[in-house]
Amino acid sequence: MTRADGYLLDNQQTEAGRRFEALATLFDPSTFRHMERFGVGSGWRCWEVGAGGTSVVSWLAKKVGPTGKVLATDIDISWAASVARSPVEVRVHDVGAEEPPGEGFDLVHARLVLVHVPDRERALQSMIKALRPGGRLLVEDADPALQPLLCPEEHGPEQRLANRLRQGFRSLLADRGADLAYGRKLPRLLREAGLTGVEADAYFPVASPACTALEDATVRQIRDQLVTAGLATQEEIEQHLANVAAGSMDLATAPMISAWGRKG
Ligand SMILES: C[S@@+](CC[C@H](N)C(=O)[O-])C[C@H]1O[C@@H](n2cnc3c(N)ncnc32)[C@H](O)[C@@H]1O
Repeated sequence: MTRADGYLLDNQQTEAGRRFEALATLFDPSTFRHMERFGVGSGWRCWEVGAGGTSVVSWLAKKVGPTGKVLATDIDISWAASVARSPVEVRVHDVGAEEPPGEGFDLVHARLVLVHVPDRERALQSMIKALRPGGRLLVEDADPALQPLLCPEEHGPEQRLANRLRQGFRSLLADRGADLAYGRKLPRLLREAGLTGVEADAYFPVASPACTALEDATVRQIRDQLVTAGLATQEEIEQHLANVAAGSMDLATAPMISAWGRKG
């Protein structure tokens, strides 16, 4: 997979930083709650797959301390590289195409990554292979097909336009091979892969300032692709960005499914 025709939201674009910040605000509390429940702490060895930004990596680094290790990998380390100091190591790595970058991990985590990886099955196997016996896997992925609307309440023309552009974003993702109903499959996939104690839950905000920031950055990042694909006009995109900036719409995200289990 090349970045140009594969992953839609290139990390090197300036909007990527704003997207990572918004994702952290929206989803870190739920991610950290799950990790706390596993007991992540001093000396743990963790692999953060498709790290993107720095918030999860930095939080893990504090938890594991100087005797632990946090390996952060991504196909594009433009953002994660800034936290590459002990106990954090940052490496370029394609989870769907390469051998695992290590073994014996106590925790392997990927959030909003596998849905974009063409060979998701191989990626999941690789993440499980990298765990020590008894190690924890936490995979979190959106399930846009479960709740596809940006504005769950279609109150007026602004919300209808917002939902239509969101539908366009989904088709761009699907054209690039993203599985838009992947989140719901995770518990079964983890169980079939032999993990024990598999459970899953879901979280999504229905109205939050971070959803506004996320939508603004996402639409700016993909606007040319929406227009080129005939999914929207520049005028509609300008109108939608103005509606988003006005702050009068309640914006939601797709549900984030978190699934976890133990190896062996
Ligand atoms: C939507 S971002 C999520 C970033 C971060 N995990 C978070 O939740 O904020 C997806 C990330 O997955 C990375 N990614 C996409 N395909 C990948 C692959 N095959 N191997 C590793 N990382 C990949 C992207 O570069 C990007 O940083």
